[in-house]
Amino acid sequence: MKLLIINGPNLGRLGRREPSIYGATTMEEALETLRAAFPMHTIEYYQSNVEGLLIDRLEQAADEGVEGIALNAGAYTHTSIALHDAIRSIGLPVIEVHLSNVHQREAFRHHSMIAGACRGVICGFGMLSYRLAIEALVSAE
Ligand code: DQA
Repeated sequence: MKLLIINGPNLGRLGRREPSIYGATTMEEALETLRAAFPMHTIEYYQSNVEGLLIDRLEQAADEGVEGIALNAGAYTHTSIALHDAIRSIGLPVIEVHLSNVHQREAFRHHSMIAGACRGVICGFGMLSYRLAIEALVSAE
């Protein structure tokens, strides 16, 4: 399968950003591990701090034959109706991913604007959250 991981704002600094919450592993290291774990699948990666560019990438994914997306929209998860609409519009399975357990954190992280448009939600497992999302995408009937 052709899969895509999309990370939103502030996730370009994984490994350096608040490691007590998000861990010390960089996304590049995590991607190496993920690609080794799923050698029969193609895993592309995109990160942007810009809401509109995340929407552009979702639309592009639909046009280029991506079959499933693991999306960590960062703080836009909690605010973005535009991302919700984009997820719905592309008609691809999208799994909402978070490294941290957002429900153990501040109240403003408890609500997701995008969950209702996603196939499922995985949070709280650090970098393993991405692996679980890929597992869900490749195992789906
Ligand atoms: C996050 C959780 C969000 O609340 C936060 O804004 C992030 C990271 C996570 O992966 O745990 O940027 O999506």
